[in-house]
Amino acid sequence: PLVLHVLGARPNFVKAAPVVRALGELGVRQGIIHTGQHYDALMSDVFFADLGLPEPIANLGVGSGSHAKQTAALLVGLEEVVQEHEPDLVVVYGDVNSTLAAILVCAKLGVPTAHVEAGLRSYDRGMPEEVNRVVTDALADLLFATSPEALAYLASEGVPAAKVHLVGNPMIDSLFAALPSLDPAPVVERLGLPARYAVATLHRPANVDTAEAAKELVEAVLEVSRKVPVVVPIHPRGKARLAEAGLVDGETVKVVDPLGYVDFLSLVRGAALVVTDSGGVQEETTMLGVPCLTVRPNTERPITITHGTNRLVTPALLPAAADKALADGAVTPAGELPVLWDGKAGPRIAKVISAWLEGDNLAP
Ligand code: UD1
Ligand code: UDP
Repeated sequence: PLVLHVLGARPNFVKAAPVVRALGELGVRQGIIHTGQHYDALMSDVFFADLGLPEPIANLGVGSGSHAKQTAALLVGLEEVVQEHEPDLVVVYGDVNSTLAAILVCAKLGVPTAHVEAGLRSYDRGMPEEVNRVVTDALADLLFATSPEALAYLASEGVPAAKVHLVGNPMIDSLFAALPSLDPAPVVERLGLPARYAVATLHRPANVDTAEAAKELVEAVLEVSRKVPVVVPIHPRGKARLAEAGLVDGETVKVVDPLGYVDFLSLVRGAALVVTDSGGVQEETTMLGVPCLTVRPNTERPITITHGTNRLVTPALLPAAADKALADGAVTPAGELPVLWDGKAGPRIAKVISAWLEGDNLAP
């Protein structure tokens, strides 16, 4: 049997690495299809190197575009490559457009699919990712959930419980694997930061796609930077608009290119505070015990609030929340971390997949 992994964007690489490794250890034949949704070296190549991911067997070179144009190109490219390779299972990750396109293509071709990171919900259909999550979970044959609340969400949408496996969080597997290599000192020195600093990552369309949203956000980040210097590894999506809104290199703000995985997590590990609108960073700060302020009205990862260091804030509330977080440090309300975020999600997923492959589920 052959398993194909469809990957396209930065967070996909981080989630797939432990699954690919664990399937490899079980001797499963597999290959990576890179859609090319992310293509800059700092958004893609660096993750293959840092995470030890094998070279893709195909790169579709889909690139950027409006949702319709990007998704259309993904559908056309993926249909061809899936038909060419005739996989027995296609594994998709997270909630990006590459994930959505792969699940649609496979559903129409009758190719079975597995969704890693199933059942996350923000209940905000204004987020493109929420649309992708709902469609992906409706069509997947195997659903791998990272946290218990996903089981109830999926049940409420009519997904049969037999399809769903609570396995923990492969993104945290990657974090655990990287832990011994995480050293803030060299990155802090290279970027010319003081010992006490904050890290900010901002790329959600609602925050960076309009001049008004960008301005409100940048003003809040600049105010935080008057209390603690802020380094911003900038996602290409918001680069121009955030700069226009005033997020530029200064005495207290440092805007840098996106960082590689090990450099970024090293920086986060040494930070006094993280400000973000990323999905994955909410989880990583929870595990590293770094206070995290998420500038969004909601989160599909509420467990990082109930069992972690995450807080939701509006731009207006960000400066005061930053003061409090800097004074209090990391607070984990439940006193315990999310269950099964133990670095073993990849092997759990691989075990389910290999049992499934050995069952009577193979494509005719
Ligand atoms: C995508 C995901 C988002 C995820 C993010 C992770 C969707 C709908 N969104 O958002 O859920 O959080 O990836 O980083 O799939 N660009 C470059 N170089 C690149 C890639 C993108 O310059 O290598 C720029 C292009 O101008 C592009 C823009 O970033 O138009 C947006 O890229 P795109 O892949 O469409 O969405 P992201 O915002 O990266
Ligand atoms: N990340 C990174 N370098 C950066 C910013 C983020 O390596 O400059 C990593 C981060 O540690 C996490 C992943 O990228 O593992 C999250 O990706 P992103 O925030 O782009 O996507 P999201 O999780 O919001 O979908």
